[in-house]
Amino acid sequence: MSSGPQVLGVPLKYVSLVVLTVQNSLLVLIMRYSRIVNDTPYFTSTAVLLSELVKFVVCLYLSASATAAEGGGRLDVARVREEVLGGDSWKMLIPAALYTVQNNLQYVSVSLLDAATFQVTYQLKILTTALCAVVLLGTRLNRMRWISLVALTVGVILVQKPASSPAAAADGAQAARSTQLLGLLTVFVACVLSGLAGVYFEKVLKGSRKSVWTRNVQLSLFSMGPALFGVFVMDGSGVRANGFFYGYTVWTAAAIACQAGGGLIVAVVVKYADNILKGFATSISIILSCLASVWLFDFHITPIFLAGTALVLYATYTYGKEETAQKAPSPLPTTAARPEDSD
Ligand code: C5P
Repeated sequence: MSSGPQVLGVPLKYVSLVVLTVQNSLLVLIMRYSRIVNDTPYFTSTAVLLSELVKFVVCLYLSASATAAEGGGRLDVARVREEVLGGDSWKMLIPAALYTVQNNLQYVSVSLLDAATFQVTYQLKILTTALCAVVLLGTRLNRMRWISLVALTVGVILVQKPASSPAAAADGAQAARSTQLLGLLTVFVACVLSGLAGVYFEKVLKGSRKSVWTRNVQLSLFSMGPALFGVFVMDGSGVRANGFFYGYTVWTAAAIACQAGGGLIVAVVVKYADNILKGFATSISIILSCLASVWLFDFHITPIFLAGTALVLYATYTYGKEETAQKAPSPLPTTAARPEDSD
């Protein structure tokens, strides 16, 4: 068993993956519901900006507390500033820009597509992430791992299949088709950005001594500029006319909190596991949200759903087994080159 950090005796790596699974099950449902619950939909770019602000405040608190603890409990603002803004902090500019576009696209696609179609197509990010890990991190995946990745993607598609709405296609209206097409295009771009940003973040994080919270302070700080730009470009006139919080409901706040919380969990997952394992955690979350739909929305379990579930579980098991077999005797299994860690 891993000798890394633990929570109640369970390695943080597994705890973070389980928490991510639960968070992901909730996120899409809450995000989608927040978009349709009100007749006057809120400006999504403002939600992206606020979620970065929440992450910034939380991570700054965690990073500053760690720096203060190192300095004997005294908070040295200059040291915190140097830790956050000094050295190679500029490296976070790249994932910050990529994630901001991705986060905005995610809202656009979830507004254009139904939740099920969005979730299934967004799983393409499992493959885009694996490809980026291979290209950018030099991760080597053996044949079994590639097979598990493809099996995972097919399994998720099967799980989602019965849930996607044929009614939308049957409507056949040209407008509906182009909405669908635009939605799929935005998801596809979001998948590529997700893979690139995630793997780049992992590479920088595991290639330096800075803590994950400091890296995330940098990430959210640098994301706020592009996110603000997004507010001007996408919703500038609307915000000027109706106000920043126009159309907000308690569900908007819930979506912002869930997205911000998800970002923090993703950071921990990438630190203690890696981006590819993250893909497996989110796939299992899809099965969980479908099972929740049986109870919440009268979703019917079909043989195709069961076949997809079996494939996802098989893929997760096979990939996990391969990882155990290949794991070096290190507390932090990772896909990136890793110098000594400081936290
Ligand atoms: O869809 P995907 O899993 O790529 O989304 C990752 C989410 O986590 C994005 O919303 C991104 O802003 C956030 N994130 C974060 N901190 C990190 C990595 C990702 O807030 N270190």
